[in-house]
Amino acid sequence: MDKKFKRTLVTCALPYANGPVHIGHLAGVYVPADIYVRYLRLRGEEVLYVCGSDEHGVPITIKARQQGCTPQDIVDKYNGIIDESFKGLGINFDIYGRTSSKVHEANASGFFRKLYDEGKFITRESEQYYDPEAKTFLADRYIVGTCPKCGAEGAYGDQCEKCGSTLSPEELIDPRSKLSGAAPIKKKTTHWYLPLQDYEQWLREWILEGHKDGGLQPRAVTRDLDWGVPVPVEGAEGKVLYVWFDAPIGYISNTQELLPDDWEKWWKSSDTKLVHFIGKDNIVFHCIVFPSMLKAYGDGYILPENVPANEFLNLEGDKISTSRGWAVWAHEYLQDFPGKQDVLRYVLTANAPETKDNDFSWKDFQQRNNSELVAIFGNFVNRVVVLTHKYFDGKVPAAGELQDVDREVLAEIPVLRASLEKNIEEYHFREALKDAMSIARAGNKYISDTEPWKVAKEDMGRVATILNVSLQICADLAIAFEPFTPFACEKLRGMLGMDLKWEDLGRSDIMEAGHALSQAELLFAKIEDAEIGVQLAKLEKIRAERAAAEAAEAAKRVAPQKEQVTFDDFGKMDIRTATVLEAERVPKTDKLLKLTIDTGIDRRTIVSGIAEYYTPEEMVGKQICILANLAPRTIKGIESKGMILMARQGDGKMRFITPAETLSNGAEIG
Ligand code: 2FM
Ligand code: ZN
Repeated sequence: MDKKFKRTLVTCALPYANGPVHIGHLAGVYVPADIYVRYLRLRGEEVLYVCGSDEHGVPITIKARQQGCTPQDIVDKYNGIIDESFKGLGINFDIYGRTSSKVHEANASGFFRKLYDEGKFITRESEQYYDPEAKTFLADRYIVGTCPKCGAEGAYGDQCEKCGSTLSPEELIDPRSKLSGAAPIKKKTTHWYLPLQDYEQWLREWILEGHKDGGLQPRAVTRDLDWGVPVPVEGAEGKVLYVWFDAPIGYISNTQELLPDDWEKWWKSSDTKLVHFIGKDNIVFHCIVFPSMLKAYGDGYILPENVPANEFLNLEGDKISTSRGWAVWAHEYLQDFPGKQDVLRYVLTANAPETKDNDFSWKDFQQRNNSELVAIFGNFVNRVVVLTHKYFDGKVPAAGELQDVDREVLAEIPVLRASLEKNIEEYHFREALKDAMSIARAGNKYISDTEPWKVAKEDMGRVATILNVSLQICADLAIAFEPFTPFACEKLRGMLGMDLKWEDLGRSDIMEAGHALSQAELLFAKIEDAEIGVQLAKLEKIRAERAAAEAAEAAKRVAPQKEQVTFDDFGKMDIRTATVLEAERVPKTDKLLKLTIDTGIDRRTIVSGIAEYYTPEEMVGKQICILANLAPRTIKGIESKGMILMARQGDGKMRFITPAETLSNGAEIG
């Protein structure tokens, strides 16, 4: 660690307690943070690892409204699920707090009050959007419209997720309420604002140097809502702190809850390194708003040294979406793949969306497990431990004189260790994992090249050396992989009968001759097609349900009314009943049927584009309605005289029109 720091405070974005966490959250924030923390701890550094649920904000009130329960019920449910999921995956925070806790309420309220008393806020009366149907003010996030910067549809009132611009609802083109779909109206309300522009110069020096931006605006830090931390000043009835004001303070509250007497050392000591792990949609809040809040507060609060922010993870080529149910949920994964926590951690790291959005697919998950974890890491360890039991009664054999091949493989480890350290310290976890895997690859290649099972026929001394070297590499793996696959490493340490520290990595004499190993256990198990088949079927079902729901929506779409016509215009149309006598497909077309019909006036041919909806057999004998006096047209060489009347609904589905009871052909319609 950087000399100027003595300890590291790692925070992870507080997940909203309005849904479970999914692989996108894990890949973007929690798995990388956990790798970092495990690494620092293995190095013997002092680390505090803080997270918790973000339990305020409008989405929670909406969900409660939808489900007919209280916001507290919602946050209690998801706080439990999320907390369990993290623990299940080996992500063990020192504290997983809650922003609905008493400690947090007092802390956030006090934080606001101090800024208020010191005149750090400005008040503004403004006209804010109000949903006249839902009878509630609309939080920025609940107004959607077209992004003024990039033209994307569905931009939120606080941010466009497409281009990343920070927005205010006023800037949206064609704003609509997400609650009722109604056009929001403006209503007067007063709020407290943090004048970010006052911190702009300071922020520029601190972080924005060299970046272009459009200048900062005051940021409202209160909202009209009945769920949240009440604004602790007179005249603020019915108002709460904005969730993005209270949530980051939650990092501090959770630390206070854990260490009531010792928390300041973590937040107010210049020798504490503060690192916020977040997803890219949280950047503005962690790099501009929260630092400005802390700066305004003063009192010795430190600022983040780094804010590692990942891009987004997609799932099977589609954007992960909680509302559309397109996700792999952490708690379901843990149920479906018991004992395979490491596989998910590994795949999410190997595929981490560090520099660009990335995709998770079940096929890739299976492949990485089977051909990397099982075939390289697991296979190497298993061969070494089994052979040690077979030839040396499970005791580490003493190495004889080393050959070039031995020296070369041992020399690779310190080089890989240096790269691994640099990558983790620079938050390049994907590359760091490659370094760890390179150690396993080197070991696997070494044992395949040296073939101790063959050498055993003539030279047990040489076998002893090979297995000694291989066991050193097994110990290296137990250290190097600990941040990434902690469950397997615990097992491996058990097999090796050793507690290991980062400093041991690459030492080449960790495993002393005569030291007894435990029995071999498989570190990883192969994942069969059937297991991922179940997952793919789950997703397929979600896709099908979504497509059906979208089609049902589309079917309801009604085209706007056409221009007015006069009675005379309509009178020109000669619409009649007619009966289909014969029907056949027009050769070499998909859509056309050639119909012979009895119009009462004559027998004629009409070519109609209805083959998508009706077979020829279905049409024969049906009474239909036709526009009889439409000028003839030649279609695919066939003269068509008239047109069949069809009704078309929003999704394109068409049905012919038939009288309520059979009439004689040629009856006039109008
Ligand atoms: O984006 C989110 O999920 C937010 N709940 C993150 C909050 S981070 C912090 F400020 F608490
Ligand atoms: Zn945009």
